Amino acid sequence: MHLSRRVQGISFSVTLALDARAKELAAQGRDLVNMAVGEPDFPAPRVARRAAIARIESGDVRYTAAAGAASTRAAIARHLSETRATPYRPDEVVVCHSAKHALSGVILSLVEPGDQVLVPLPAWVSYVEQIRIAGAEPVLVPPTAGCRPDLAALRAAVTPRSRLILINSPSNPTGYVLSPEELRAIAALAREHELWILSDEIYRRLTYDGREALSPVTAAPVVKDRTVIVDGASKAFAMTGYRIGYAAGPRELVDAVTRLHSQMTGAPNTVSQAALEAALSSEPPEVAEMCAVFAQRRDLLMAGLRELGLEMPEPGGAFYAFPDVSALLDERGSDGFCEDLLEREGLVLVPGSAFGVDQHVRFSYAMEEGRIREALARFERFVAALR
Ligand SMILES: Cc1ncc(COP(=O)(O)O)c(C=O)c1O
Repeated sequence: MHLSRRVQGISFSVTLALDARAKELAAQGRDLVNMAVGEPDFPAPRVARRAAIARIESGDVRYTAAAGAASTRAAIARHLSETRATPYRPDEVVVCHSAKHALSGVILSLVEPGDQVLVPLPAWVSYVEQIRIAGAEPVLVPPTAGCRPDLAALRAAVTPRSRLILINSPSNPTGYVLSPEELRAIAALAREHELWILSDEIYRRLTYDGREALSPVTAAPVVKDRTVIVDGASKAFAMTGYRIGYAAGPRELVDAVTRLHSQMTGAPNTVSQAALEAALSSEPPEVAEMCAVFAQRRDLLMAGLRELGLEMPEPGGAFYAFPDVSALLDERGSDGFCEDLLEREGLVLVPGSAFGVDQHVRFSYAMEEGRIREALARFERFVAALR
């Protein structure tokens, strides 16, 4: 079949593929511990569920404007103004079908063939694919020895073709939270070279130990005119299946994303917009409860991995740990490691190769403590056999 060159090279999301394989094996009766999941195992906040049901029952479920309902954009602008300590107007916000959709809309609106996008590694796989779909070149910047973003290497990677820096704090897959100093350094680089910053803040609310994940616009307000924030309901509100997110930035860019989406996808889901609006407007108590549970699980998982002598960046947020397993890998790298682990122990992890850093594997702790203990026991057995 002749397919467009645009889609020929697109890989299927590794995490989704692994998840699908795990479900297949589970359907055959294998007892798996699936730590490849990228979604909270909590229900959506009550206020969001109620708002969704009320909207359906009301019958008022027509198309909204392509940029989203005026009330939803206003709620997002209010929320951003309060949480990012800098004012946002509703016309600086576009509601999207998800954070993923917001990211692709922004990337397609900002870059074109010949442009380069700087991506500090490790990074979520969809960034790289979305940049390629837009015809631009992802410039993957390896991390420091401790798997943190290497800002000196980032600076060294800038060329006259650089157009955009993509950051994600807390990070998927490390959970690393960028410090205000790091954000200011990135902001300075962006100003110096007239780059855009695309800040994926989808895990912003899920931080631990009193840490706060700042937006670049908070740490360095001078870059607000060259920063686009992407956020959504999937992680903080455990609303992955609602498929709703947003982008916020300068109005001209927001208008461009809106034009693009008006032709490609049309207005975002009306029911999910109502649910997001309700969640943003009422600060649901479930978010803090979920964070407290995640923090406990994180401690449990980290303690177990450290007991095995594995090192990793301290996950200050999100719900992942990304230990270095380089001493345990054979020539097949992290892919082979994860395949063997699945076959022998029924434990599903995501290989670091999916994030551009092959020496690591990603654990998700979005599951109850009993399953985390079981995962650790299986992992320990697997590692002992390798050693
Ligand atoms: C870093 C990052 N950004 C964005 C998303 C996508 O979020 P959404 O469900 O809103 O598309 C994910 C989901 O895994 C993610 O890990």
